[in-house]
Amino acid sequence: MRLVRRVDRVGGSNKLPKVPLVPPGGIFRLSVSGFAGHLEAVLIAPLLPTYARADLAFERGEGTWLLGTDGKRYLDFSGGVAVNALGHAHPALVKALTEQAQKVWHVSNLFRIPEAERLAKRLVDASFADTVFFANSGAEAMECAIKMARKYHAVSGKPEKNRIITFDGSFHGRTLATLAAAGNQKYLDGFGEPMPGFDQVRYGDLEDAKKAITPATGAILAEPIEGEGGIRVPPPSFLRGLRELCDNNGLLLVLDEVQSGMGRTGKLFAYEWAEIEPDILATAKGIGGGFPLGACMATAEAAKGMTAGTHGSTFGGNPLAMAVGNAVLDVILAPGFLEKVRHSGLLIKQRLAELRDRHAAVIAEVRGEGLLIGLRAIVPQGDLIAAAREEGLLTAAAGENVVRLLPPLIIGEAEISEAVGKLDAACRKIEISLAASKRGAAE
Ligand SMILES: Cc1ncc(COP(=O)(O)O)c(C=O)c1O
Repeated sequence: MRLVRRVDRVGGSNKLPKVPLVPPGGIFRLSVSGFAGHLEAVLIAPLLPTYARADLAFERGEGTWLLGTDGKRYLDFSGGVAVNALGHAHPALVKALTEQAQKVWHVSNLFRIPEAERLAKRLVDASFADTVFFANSGAEAMECAIKMARKYHAVSGKPEKNRIITFDGSFHGRTLATLAAAGNQKYLDGFGEPMPGFDQVRYGDLEDAKKAITPATGAILAEPIEGEGGIRVPPPSFLRGLRELCDNNGLLLVLDEVQSGMGRTGKLFAYEWAEIEPDILATAKGIGGGFPLGACMATAEAAKGMTAGTHGSTFGGNPLAMAVGNAVLDVILAPGFLEKVRHSGLLIKQRLAELRDRHAAVIAEVRGEGLLIGLRAIVPQGDLIAAAREEGLLTAAAGENVVRLLPPLIIGEAEISEAVGKLDAACRKIEISLAASKRGAAE
């Protein structure tokens, strides 16, 4: 706890009054009046309290498990919000990172980085893309994608085509551009004029997207599955329709696969399910398996405006990140790996559908593809998340009252069973408390 600002302090001694400890996530205003004078202060935790954190910390992780500082073991289905694609402390990733750490950490993009060239070539060989820009996060990968789409039209002699159609329920990051793209008022409030250039329409609604196209439209930006929005899965015809709209109107199709990419849905990228290809794609999260890494991938045509000096990042593509990225790709692209993810996805969905049938008062719906899964709750999602945590299962919240399940892609059948067992126990406890409050209301 720390006094960070003192306002209107009159008279009295220099001693601060005794105040309660500011908890993590806490910020409050202190106002004390007494015969020594009047003191007002803003008290804030040393760690900027922009997150509503669970009161839980971890000592170490191994595979799908985390060991809490409370001594309890947790099955991690929050996966660092879809980041820990290979679980915790995967031996191949630990080896890659520690070996690289003994060679060279950082050189900057003033020089060639062979591991970046290698990772870019491998991503190009495995996807629609011809070229890759490395960043450090999803939002940065998205910034590159937005700039690239605008630049494409500028160098094509149509600088007026700088508007992008985006969708409700989307999430693209927390920079000013990505917030404006997603258009979520809750996240924009208080940060001034949103960056212009985005026209938002209903997710999954092709007609709405078509109607929004004007001579100033340059691109359409969508998540193949909306993650933060609540694991909203559109029909495959949606992405196909967007591709067609782009082709017919000279627009670029930009996909945000920050969450859905890198094997999460059982394909390297989720666009593959729809059998289309984008012009630009942003990915992050799983690509670094826990090391900060993002990538903006594009066709040669879409990237034609991105010449030397048009974009950059001090850390992007740094040797440590590249070593880990290559090691992640070694595992994900190994023969049979993605088939196993698809198998695990089907198994868990089947088990969750049974769970929903058993607990129809708690769970309304199971959604998702592969290991990007959502349970739409009937009770407040926070109750289900807390009850699951009590049972030793970690999950994450999403829009539409959804509880996200994001296990590592390496998950085994025994862990799936254990997780479903823990959810079962959590649902039973919620049902017991629902029944008790019903009885209480009847009395
Ligand atoms: C689809 C999508 N895009 C972009 C982002 C932003 O990524 P980051 O938090 O790494 O900036 C996220 C993060 O949750 C995401 O889910």
